[in-house]
Amino acid sequence: MKKLINSLNSGLNGELLIPGDKSISHRSIMLGSIANGETTIKNFLMSDDCISTINAFKDMGVEIEQNENNIIVHGVGFHGLKKPNKDLDMGNSGTSTRLMMGLLAGQNFDSNLIGDNSLSKRPMKRISTPLEQMGAQIKLNENTLPAIIHGKSLNEIDYTLPIASAQVKSAIILAAIQAKNKSTIKEPIKTRNHTELMLNTFSPNTIITEENTITINPVTQLIGQNINVPGDISSAAFFLVAGAITKNSNITLKNIGINQTRTGILKVLNLMGANYTLLNQNLDGEPTADINIKSSSLKPINLTEQDIPMMIDELPLVGLLAACANGVSKITGAKELRFKETDRIKTLVQEFKKLGISITELEDGFIIDGSKNWNPTDLLLDSHGDHRIGMTMAIAALLIKDSTTLKDSESINISYPTFFNDLNKLIKTS
Ligand code: S3P
Repeated sequence: MKKLINSLNSGLNGELLIPGDKSISHRSIMLGSIANGETTIKNFLMSDDCISTINAFKDMGVEIEQNENNIIVHGVGFHGLKKPNKDLDMGNSGTSTRLMMGLLAGQNFDSNLIGDNSLSKRPMKRISTPLEQMGAQIKLNENTLPAIIHGKSLNEIDYTLPIASAQVKSAIILAAIQAKNKSTIKEPIKTRNHTELMLNTFSPNTIITEENTITINPVTQLIGQNINVPGDISSAAFFLVAGAITKNSNITLKNIGINQTRTGILKVLNLMGANYTLLNQNLDGEPTADINIKSSSLKPINLTEQDIPMMIDELPLVGLLAACANGVSKITGAKELRFKETDRIKTLVQEFKKLGISITELEDGFIIDGSKNWNPTDLLLDSHGDHRIGMTMAIAALLIKDSTTLKDSESINISYPTFFNDLNKLIKTS
């Protein structure tokens, strides 16, 4: 589908309730499914990726009721999943695939995970290698899906992650809770900790975190919970950036998750001199706040490897901020971007060049000179089938004098099906 995006005449103004967090939504279905009793989930993200997770658990015999963004999962207990009678289709979702590989490795049945073209190119050995050390039996097509998992009883592991990845960490955690003895994982750099926080509500004291070391105790049962999913900061980020880079804007985003392992984009906005405020903070469980942002003048920024995990999904937007700053920004240590839904270094460079943004591709990042004027030469932009590249380019397009067209805009349904509606709300009220 092609989407026409008009230039923004005045600013973006108003309030938005951002849809639920994708990472937390996936985990709520997974843990709810293997818990005893009901798990109710409010503000669930009803997007294509999360629907892949729901469907996979339905295929394993879990009853999941849905009423708009509210869900009831009728948990089948820690050993209650049933062998699926077809391949489990993960669609585009790396999180569903990788976390479920960990969970399924310890079940007493076999399963086969498949995915779409993009997912079928993404690396999976990073998951099967530690799981095999735990005694799992997983057959990949070299490094990629399909993954045939022969469920087995698992041993504990003491593992140092070779890359900073919450998906790898979470896969190991979901395997380790099924192991005979306690396991430990060491992270080179801290990554999002939603699995750890949620597991400790379903089964207290399962996870103990000390600095960068996570200890996982085996579990015998999880108890169903009531979960309220905060707004996704990775979705809010599109409007935080839109508010900062457009003139005459004043936007408030309500009930956004501000877990410290996710707030890299706020750190960047702060360092670049953006004008934002946190309001109504609630620090219980997964912390939340409303965030107000106004038009800002931006300074350039330098980011290195240590900064990356807490803003991994927001880096295309950091590129857009850099393209609006008054100097040269350099982002390095971000090679992981090459293994996302697309090679996001390559696709971002390609799309930014169409708009005449001064960007240089690096092996592990990019350099952007925001002091140079944008000189658009090609107004047919492309999401490349990648939701976050699509939304980043839709926000960039607001600054272009002429209308632009975004190709494959439906990929945005992966994480933010109401993105264009929400954008229009902010335009209409201005
Ligand atoms: C996610 C972890 C991140 C992130 C992805 C969601 C998660 O991936 O990019 O969108 O929910 O655990 P990596 O952990 O592989 O970097």
